[in-house]
Amino acid sequence: MQHPGFRFAGIGSYLPDEIVTNDDLAANMDTSDQWIRERTGIGQRHVGGSTSSLAAEAASRAMKRANVSPADIDQLLLATTSPDYICPGTAPAVAEILGLDCGALDIQAACSGWVYGLVMANGLLLQGMKRVLVVGAEALDQITDYTDRNTGILFGNGAGAAVVEADPTGESELLGWDMGADGKYVSILYAEHGDVLKMDGKEVFRQAVTAMQRSASNALEMAGLDVDDIDLVIPHQANVRIVEAAWKRIGFTMEKTGMRLEETGNTSAASIPLVLDKMLDDGRIREGNTVMFLGFGAGMTWATAIVRYAGERS
Ligand code: COA
Repeated sequence: MQHPGFRFAGIGSYLPDEIVTNDDLAANMDTSDQWIRERTGIGQRHVGGSTSSLAAEAASRAMKRANVSPADIDQLLLATTSPDYICPGTAPAVAEILGLDCGALDIQAACSGWVYGLVMANGLLLQGMKRVLVVGAEALDQITDYTDRNTGILFGNGAGAAVVEADPTGESELLGWDMGADGKYVSILYAEHGDVLKMDGKEVFRQAVTAMQRSASNALEMAGLDVDDIDLVIPHQANVRIVEAAWKRIGFTMEKTGMRLEETGNTSAASIPLVLDKMLDDGRIREGNTVMFLGFGAGMTWATAIVRYAGERS
């Protein structure tokens, strides 16, 4: 692959303070903490805040880590499936809060959106930009019915962000990628205007496993790598059983896997950068590690990016 160079300059994330536990949900619907944990791996979810405010907080943390000012950002890409408004997009409001003076647009690729954003940022660096801010942010409590036990157990709010920049050495961290969509499956997970999410959970489960396997394989092929070359994987955090089922087919182990689902629930486009930030904080990702981000979601959409992490925090 030809690149001008692509590197992570800074990562940040944010979860709003308010927490809804499984027991809180069980007070309003026929479910239990035990059922939700066994069937999904989720223990709680965060709620509150607007998508723009959550996005701005995560983005400012990422910019601080990258040691850049608003004038250094050439483009904002905001992946979200729960925008503040149907129109306009949420990215201009985030740019306003941050004091950016650059292009700003939303990416609506549901839970795959942040990984789509990374690949698109790479394209913008190829076009000559120096720095792109890629944010995944969700206020899913706006479109979730917390009395519906089919969907209400799953979703929560949060945001994660990365400043990616052109590397003057030409060295690239982005080794391979894959993006895909299959609109045959629109009806298995959707929200109509003004309404909440509706879902055929079993079919989403099945399609997610298939999509993850295919997308991981495509990205590995592009990177010229094998499964064993991947040091760590961060999958979209939807259901731990989906991840386990996909890993049986692909050959990854849970030891290599970054999970934060118990703490966050499914935060859609925010889920992968939320895990990435925590793994960096915990020292689980080290300089030179090869890391795969593997997203899937409504649409269906899916996206994978394989990066060799060059190091942003010590
Ligand atoms: N609490 C308690 N019991 C529940 C329940 C809940 N929240 N939801 C369903 N049940 C019951 C069902 O009524 C059924 O009871 P029965 O056996 O007496 O008929 C039983 O539990 C099994 O239900 P089922 O629908 O087969 O559960 P499941 O194992 O498929 O799990 C999901 C349901 C939603 C957790 C699961 O299908 C899933 O996670 N799918 C993917 C969803 C997803 O990730 N969406 C986002 C993608 S980005």
